[in-house]
Amino acid sequence: MTDHRSPDTRFRTSLLEENDGPAINPTDNRTMGDIIAARFSRRGFLKGSLAVSAIAATVGPLAMIAADDARAAEGSAFKFDELEAGIDDKHHVAPGYDADVLLRWGDPLFADSPEFDPTKQSAEAQARQFGYNNDYVGYIAIDGSAEHGLLVVNHEYTNPHLMFPGIVSIVEKDGKKKAEVAPLSKEQVDVEMAAHGGTIVEIRKEGGKWQVVRDGKRNRRITSTTEMALSGPVAGHDRVKTNADPSGTKVFGTFNNCAGGVTPWGTYVMAEENIHGYFSGELPEGHKEAANYKRLGIPEGAYEWGAHYDRFNLAKEPNEPNRFGWIVEVDVNDPNSTPRKRTAMGRFKHEGAESIVAKDGRVVFYLGDDERFDYVYKFVTKGAFNANDHAANKDLLDEGTLHVAKFAEDGTVDWLPIVFGQGPLTAENGFGSQADVLIETRRAADLLGATKMDRPEDIQPNGVNGKVYVMLTNNSKRKADQVDAANPRAENAFGHIIEITETNGDFTATKGKWEVLLKCGDPAVADVGATFSTATTANGWFGMPDNCAVDSAGRLWVATDGQGPKATGRTDGLWAVDTEGAARATSKLFFRVPIGAEMCGPLFAPDDQTAFVAVQHPGDGGEDWEGFGRPSYYEDLSTRWPDFKPEMPVRPSVVAITKQGGGKIAV
Ligand code: FEO
Ligand code: CA
Ligand code: CA
Repeated sequence: MTDHRSPDTRFRTSLLEENDGPAINPTDNRTMGDIIAARFSRRGFLKGSLAVSAIAATVGPLAMIAADDARAAEGSAFKFDELEAGIDDKHHVAPGYDADVLLRWGDPLFADSPEFDPTKQSAEAQARQFGYNNDYVGYIAIDGSAEHGLLVVNHEYTNPHLMFPGIVSIVEKDGKKKAEVAPLSKEQVDVEMAAHGGTIVEIRKEGGKWQVVRDGKRNRRITSTTEMALSGPVAGHDRVKTNADPSGTKVFGTFNNCAGGVTPWGTYVMAEENIHGYFSGELPEGHKEAANYKRLGIPEGAYEWGAHYDRFNLAKEPNEPNRFGWIVEVDVNDPNSTPRKRTAMGRFKHEGAESIVAKDGRVVFYLGDDERFDYVYKFVTKGAFNANDHAANKDLLDEGTLHVAKFAEDGTVDWLPIVFGQGPLTAENGFGSQADVLIETRRAADLLGATKMDRPEDIQPNGVNGKVYVMLTNNSKRKADQVDAANPRAENAFGHIIEITETNGDFTATKGKWEVLLKCGDPAVADVGATFSTATTANGWFGMPDNCAVDSAGRLWVATDGQGPKATGRTDGLWAVDTEGAARATSKLFFRVPIGAEMCGPLFAPDDQTAFVAVQHPGDGGEDWEGFGRPSYYEDLSTRWPDFKPEMPVRPSVVAITKQGGGKIAV
């Protein structure tokens, strides 16, 4: 098949999640009509100016600011010496901590796995080794231990120009030098498919350091070809039937697994995010899925899988994309178990699936759809979690109600049920069943009038303070007349964080309240409008919140995606963000990644003595002589992290952060 993609597209796989925003959500859901900038900026201004005039009258404004600083610093829940922000080819952690590389791309996971050899990659070897571009990291304790468990890790996508030798050439076009990437061979595509998916691997802490247990009996790789089941309302529907699966119940593999979660019953859930890039070809003229696929940006064609496998070519298998974009649940206790795509949880560009048990025992999953102008969702199971009977929870995710968020200007949020037959979700709008509604979740949410958000990524319920934290990465396409209270900045380059309080502390509630916890970016630049506390240092602010974690003390940690020399003059990293008292909105830098990487994962071990972080796409960079100053590719990398050996390419890796001498982190 001819390669109709531009070399630029091949180089830019790390930007898939940003590449289609504004064209995809066609609705004019204006959320809050013409109400501009609304109550938070106004209320913040009033509060600030009243405080200034009251206190300035007695002590003067400068003294007041110093007093604010001291109060915020004193009240911080985090105790560590802040790391300096910056950019170089290594990772860095706050003084007094060790950040040890635990699992690298290509590391053997089984007793019989071949050692990693980047010059002799094969799909067979890769399927027995740690995959590429680690994203979500979860920990499932073995026998309740905080020092012995299963680490579950998503492998979101692949960067061929960093993985394969000999495929990049430097050409000169219009007097400018550029890097071009050759089409991949079928063997290389097979390596890519085996490098996607997830890893389940036993780990154990010995002498204060984590080790991989290579012969762990539950160790497993899940890839883009692993057989899985479709379950829930969409299973067996005509729209998911293909030549390879006339039953519409059996799918081959999962890909673009971004964030995820571990359920209260100890299973691993993987979110399928940017599925559009894997499909190419054209739907037959007038095909009934055309509008459905357009709403998701399918086909985007950044990957070359359709050149070698018919199922990724829309002309040959028009229904295959309906089998992706789901939440996948994996029973980690049986390495031969069939992962299940839980269709009741909706189909969109799923970022994560963090959950919490509500007061009545039902389980609530918070779900982001990571695209500019897309939505925030939550799924409430129909049945209740049973802590004493593992089998009783087995299919909890097949029945329940998916809701989408409508954020109102008065600081309330409505969770609108996405149920066939209710409101506009009827035959008049082309829905014949709940299966239709779920396959086209975005269109259903459009019709319900959901609030168009600035790239909803990780959403984390906090069991300690009862709040829910929503990371909104950025949205440079939001225009001034599209601003609303929940997305208060036009051309939102640096993102923000929303804090939701569900009514009566009930996570199943269909109504709640919300506030903007933080508008991100450099607070020293007035036009940015960032709202970090005045105690936040020049190292402590950040942009582009993406993943997050809450430790067992209920403290919020935020990981970022998209900083760098041009955007913020610092690499991505992990920041500790106060949410309570005088220190609220104070942020401190704890860890930062090498150049080109994004910070994924963050996860605290149950004893808070380890923070696991995933360093994703280190060494990635622009394709021309702008941006990072030069392109970075296999033969000429901006970093050879973490091995720093001339024969080793850069390797995405999971890092375990511990306090020197032991103890809980940041206390
Ligand atoms: Fe894969 Fe939305 O980050
Ligand atoms: Ca993410
Ligand atoms: Ca991201």
